Amino acid sequence: MSKSILITGGAGFIGSHVIQLFVEKYPAYTIVNLDALTYAGNLENLKAVEGASNYTFEKADIQDEAALKAIFEKHSITDVIHLAAESHVDRSITDPLAFVKTNVFGTVNLLNAAKEFWKDNLSDHLFYHVSTDEVYGSLHDGGFFLETTAYDPQSPYSASKASSDHFVRAYANTYGMKTVISNCSNNYGPNHFPEKLIPLCIHNIKNNKPLPVYGKGENVRDWLFVKDHARAIDTVFHQGRTGETYNIGGFNEWKNIDIVKLLCAKMDEKLGRDAGTSEKLITYVKDRAGHDLRYAIDATKIQKELGWEPSLQFEEGIEITIDWFLANQDWLDRITSGAYQEYYDKHYNN
Ligand code: NAD
Ligand code: TYD
Repeated sequence: MSKSILITGGAGFIGSHVIQLFVEKYPAYTIVNLDALTYAGNLENLKAVEGASNYTFEKADIQDEAALKAIFEKHSITDVIHLAAESHVDRSITDPLAFVKTNVFGTVNLLNAAKEFWKDNLSDHLFYHVSTDEVYGSLHDGGFFLETTAYDPQSPYSASKASSDHFVRAYANTYGMKTVISNCSNNYGPNHFPEKLIPLCIHNIKNNKPLPVYGKGENVRDWLFVKDHARAIDTVFHQGRTGETYNIGGFNEWKNIDIVKLLCAKMDEKLGRDAGTSEKLITYVKDRAGHDLRYAIDATKIQKELGWEPSLQFEEGIEITIDWFLANQDWLDRITSGAYQEYYDKHYNN
């Protein structure tokens, strides 16, 4: 069946990879990218698809009820893949309300728009919510997050994503909407906004700037290459069972300090610096408030049920990522001037 899929947040980091995959792999689908173009949204991320005949961009805010209604009608939307969100934990600590507005209110607004537009045949349409493993909280005594792990969000960001997950399930239970949710671990790769650990370090190493490591650098994250997340989203969208949750992860846990050291070593090689040069930039700074100790995903369900698994080893993915950033200095320069510099000075120099 021909589909007209609304992908929200398509100008962001993960969304742009999802859009590219869908536009290129499914020429019979119409792909509508709805994005408010906040500081994190960048149409340059979509250069590869901007001229494609099955791709359209709509600048809109998911908080805007009238705009959503008009876009559903204009494009006869058949399915939604919802990625639009405020996504940075540090920003959620300084401005939690912005996260409630987009991640909670915006998601409910989008659910309402979909429910209203599909009201005559709700069960023919899918609302897919893309979420995070951070909803499960912080692991302190070993173990892994399973789909059955109780929600225990610890930051304003994860609390807002947990809330939006709950609303999606509530709409399935109450109104019979066809929904699916996936909760993924930390992504990295091309187009990653340089407020997050990996691109921030790549950018700072290149510019000989301090590498701010929170606390002792002992916090652990599970990292997944962004294109593997996009492949997983494709898999869940097409094969996932209605009403289910799928955890997505890289089977790839790293302490922050070890990642920063790996980036330093790789960048020394690529920039022709003596071994050990960039490590001198490592600077331990005040810890993040309420910093979650460890995230670790058990991605067995999606692997066994749907046959998805990561395609890249971490070191391979990191090479691709560093090479991309070094080859796309213009992209980085444009992003890191202006508002980014203001954010950076305020966050790291206070
Ligand atoms: P991002 O911050 O790079 O991009 C978010 C996009 O959403 C931007 O293009 C922005 O303009 C848009 N947006 C923000 N507010 C909006 C609004 N009110 N209306 C319309 N558009 C709006 O985020 P990302 O890292 O690409 O994450 C995408 C999704 O995946 C989010 O829902 C996030 O919670 C989830 N996720 C991210 C990660 C990760 O490691 N980055 C991991 C798991 C899940
Ligand atoms: P981040 O990329 O912000 O993702 P998340 O908080 O969603 O996991 O941070 C990854 C880890 O790196 C996290 O433990 C916080 C840490 N971190 C630093 O040590 N320094 C930094 O400057 C940033 C941005 C993050």
